[in-house]
Amino acid sequence: MFSEEDSSQDNSSFAEPAVGIVYGDVGTTSLNISVLSKLQKLEYVQIEHEEIGWVIGHVSDIQRKTDLSLDKARMIGQGAEIDIHEKTTAKIEIIGYRDERGLLQVPRTPFRAGQYVYHADDETIKRTLGIKEYTKTGAYIGLLYGHNIRVELDINSLVQKHVSILAKTGGGKSFLCGDLLEELMKHNVTVLVLDPHGEYASMKEEGRILESTRDFQVEPKGYADKIIEFATDPQSNPDALPLRFTLSNIEANDLLSLTNIKNSKVHLSYLKKAIEALRNSKQDYSLKDIINVLKREEDLNNYALICELQYLDDAQIFASSGTKISELVKTGMTTIVNLKGTPPELAELIVNRICTALFELRKIGAVPPMMLVVEEAHNFCPQQGTVASSKIFRTIAAEGRKFGLGLTIISQRAAKIDKNVLSQCNTQIILKITNPNDLKAIVGSVEGLTASMADEIQRLPIGVAMCVGSGIQMPLIVEVRPRESKHGGESVMVISDI
Ligand SMILES: Nc1ncnc2c1ncn2[C@@H]1O[C@H](COP(=O)(O)OP(=O)(O)OP(=O)(O)O)[C@@H](O)[C@H]1O
Ligand SMILES: [Mg+2]
Repeated sequence: MFSEEDSSQDNSSFAEPAVGIVYGDVGTTSLNISVLSKLQKLEYVQIEHEEIGWVIGHVSDIQRKTDLSLDKARMIGQGAEIDIHEKTTAKIEIIGYRDERGLLQVPRTPFRAGQYVYHADDETIKRTLGIKEYTKTGAYIGLLYGHNIRVELDINSLVQKHVSILAKTGGGKSFLCGDLLEELMKHNVTVLVLDPHGEYASMKEEGRILESTRDFQVEPKGYADKIIEFATDPQSNPDALPLRFTLSNIEANDLLSLTNIKNSKVHLSYLKKAIEALRNSKQDYSLKDIINVLKREEDLNNYALICELQYLDDAQIFASSGTKISELVKTGMTTIVNLKGTPPELAELIVNRICTALFELRKIGAVPPMMLVVEEAHNFCPQQGTVASSKIFRTIAAEGRKFGLGLTIISQRAAKIDKNVLSQCNTQIILKITNPNDLKAIVGSVEGLTASMADEIQRLPIGVAMCVGSGIQMPLIVEVRPRESKHGGESVMVISDI
């Protein structure tokens, strides 16, 4: 019933059979080809330009043009046998070629109609797109879409430049972040992960590699020997060490902000008085000490405040001796701070204290150069409003690099992250995004993004990412490699993400 009209003899000199022939109006930045053999969207092709030599392009669209009219389609519906003639065409967007100085250039004169087009060979792709192979410092994240080329980020620049991993809910952010963490662990990079959902501790265990049509060359492996886990709720996380903070440098308004009576001026003044009294009498004090001071006042107005502080005390976050940064950060290790179950205000305060301590201690060299990874970053450095950790994230984004404190932010809402932070991320890893505001927030900030690639972000399948930065010179579409360790993320849809 079907017949392909374009069957042609490839009489060119290239070793591989041609995938198409240039036809119609031919430009310098885009052209159409008649497709001769299997070709997929987003694959790279190469075309010989008469003045330049081989030039790389990528397939931005494919169409089957058929002679089946509406009337004939109706006849098929009524049982008729109809011959359909079809021709497949593809649109190619030209990426360019490397000139003698190694700079990426695009041709200034059009290609010729009738030219053969080929699957790009690995070496030409690598040279033109600037894909490097690293012997020591490569973080392997996956294979170039449609090609057997390993895509690696340069660990050195990854740590020195901030990273953003953005995708809609369930888009594969945590999965890919796990890949990156595995690579950082292999290279003994010191890392601290702020993990609001408690999904990274599973990396201690080895994962299960699912069957795939691609050979990613990944073997299951657990990272228990490289991971230290701290949790705010060690009862639910028996394998984790307890995360504790001293109260001595928490001000009354910060403490009150953790309660349900955060805006009460009366309670704030009671609390201030109680804390002042304690500070005058001892260096370290606990929540119980504050509660006792308030109880001694025998003022009925204090009742609500006492109840709230008791509730906070039950959470066991504050103790007379807190977790030391030297316990939290160990050279060459990955520390997971599991915040699962921690109320948002408390999580913001904890994140603020950890990040502030890391930044200050890094400045004086008291902690090693390291990478700070933040899941759900829009909660800790939001574009609108201010939370406890807003300021420190701006500071780390702007100055962290200077002091060897790299930042990786992960979020399902690019538009809701502080622009001052997002704009500092020079390595961008983008998975499927459909929300128009989020798309707008990222598209403007990715250098070298072609219109068709920007459009493609909405349609990326799960497990496919667009990456640029850290040694990758232009946006590449990457099939994300499987995890060696167990992935702990479970995607939960929330109304605002849909
Ligand atoms: N590269 C991949 N290969 C195979 N499966 C994947 C890949 N990426 C994601 N998945 C699957 O998709 C699911 C969702 O991925 P993941 O947990 O990383 O999403 P997410 O973007 O972090 O979502 P959320 O916003 O809810 O945290 C995973 O449970 C995993 O099974
Ligand atoms: Mg996730």
